[in-house]
Amino acid sequence: MDKRILRERMRRKKRQLMMRKIMRLVMCAVAVLVVLVFIFKGVIGPIAKKLTSGDGKTVEVQAETAQADPNAAVRRPVKGAQDVSKTTARTAGWQEDENGRWYQNVDGSYYASGMQDIDGVTYYFNDQGYVQTGWVTLENKDYFFNDDGSYNPEKQRPMIALTFDDGPGPYTDRLLDCLEENGAKATFFMQGKNAEQYPDVIKRMQELGCELGNHSYDHPNMTAIPVDQVVDQFQRTNDIIENACGEPASVVRFPYGSFDAERLSAVNMPSFLWSLDTEDWKKLDAQADYDSVIGHVSDGEIVLMHDIHEPSVEAALKIIPELIKEGYKLVTLEEMAEAKGFSLENGRSYTDFWASTVETMKAEGQSDSTDAGSQSSTTVKDESEPVEGTQSSAGETDSQEKQSDDSSSEDSSSDSGVSPIV
Ligand code: NI
Repeated sequence: MDKRILRERMRRKKRQLMMRKIMRLVMCAVAVLVVLVFIFKGVIGPIAKKLTSGDGKTVEVQAETAQADPNAAVRRPVKGAQDVSKTTARTAGWQEDENGRWYQNVDGSYYASGMQDIDGVTYYFNDQGYVQTGWVTLENKDYFFNDDGSYNPEKQRPMIALTFDDGPGPYTDRLLDCLEENGAKATFFMQGKNAEQYPDVIKRMQELGCELGNHSYDHPNMTAIPVDQVVDQFQRTNDIIENACGEPASVVRFPYGSFDAERLSAVNMPSFLWSLDTEDWKKLDAQADYDSVIGHVSDGEIVLMHDIHEPSVEAALKIIPELIKEGYKLVTLEEMAEAKGFSLENGRSYTDFWASTVETMKAEGQSDSTDAGSQSSTTVKDESEPVEGTQSSAGETDSQEKQSDDSSSEDSSSDSGVSPIV
């Protein structure tokens, strides 16, 4: 009797345990199901909805974005904690919150990371989806957006080309750090004899997108030596630069800015003078160098400095961020020429890309530009700079050049009658 009751109780207990197990399994299954439903609703649902949406506009914009313009904005669905403010806006159209203005589409999505036409006006939406004003650089091109966010195609970003001569030297790497930090570029007119000692610096210049320039092997006055030696000076230096980074210089600057038509065409590369001479080699004073640039430059300027001198590099470390703050873009000579509508020509000399010069160059036309260019540039140089045939300050500058050059006996600058300003 007792045994039967005992067995019955055991059976009941077992049944209860079984039921609990089953209940637990069912609960687990329900929980998993609930989680899956949430995931679907929160993530997969909106994507699926977007993909299969009957809203013709969405499909149209996506197609447009894909094929037409890599700079075009994308539509982002409203989701995620960062967009809490956006989810509160329910009406389509322009919205504003403490971070700025943004645009909500009928389907609840908003534009981000690119340009978008709305009611015939082009806007730029940043990564967070807000309208951006001021300068925006996309794929190396600059676009200006007015205070109301509208694109202003009239506005061209002012540009400065900083050029550094006579290096590379022990301070050039610091200068490259600064250029890199500021997203800026410059042109380096190197002496071959110094380039030999700094192959890694040359490689870094190239990697940063800076322009490699040739400033002869050891800085002679090129109009005082035979043409074949002139060519050899530049060729040797090009070989050294190519050995360092795999490509030769793309532009040249004659030492002291001294050249003639014969030498210009024999060297057969684009040649550059400058429009603003900081005379940094003479002053050797960082503050004076800074003062000679800031407030004295305008769009199209080609600034001459020397990275072989420490004060010049110290000045450049302040000049670079300041010019950017003032709205200038710091570019290579080739980039500046391209932005102003020119491709650099071999055997031609350039002095600046000021608006007035660009106008004159364009009036000259492309066909006869090579001859006219070299002629007019030389004339400009003779008028504005004490280069050929002048004796001004030749005495003091000679000693200065010797110091920085560590020149050998083949340097003919001291008895050339040329003011060694470069
Ligand atoms: Ni020089």
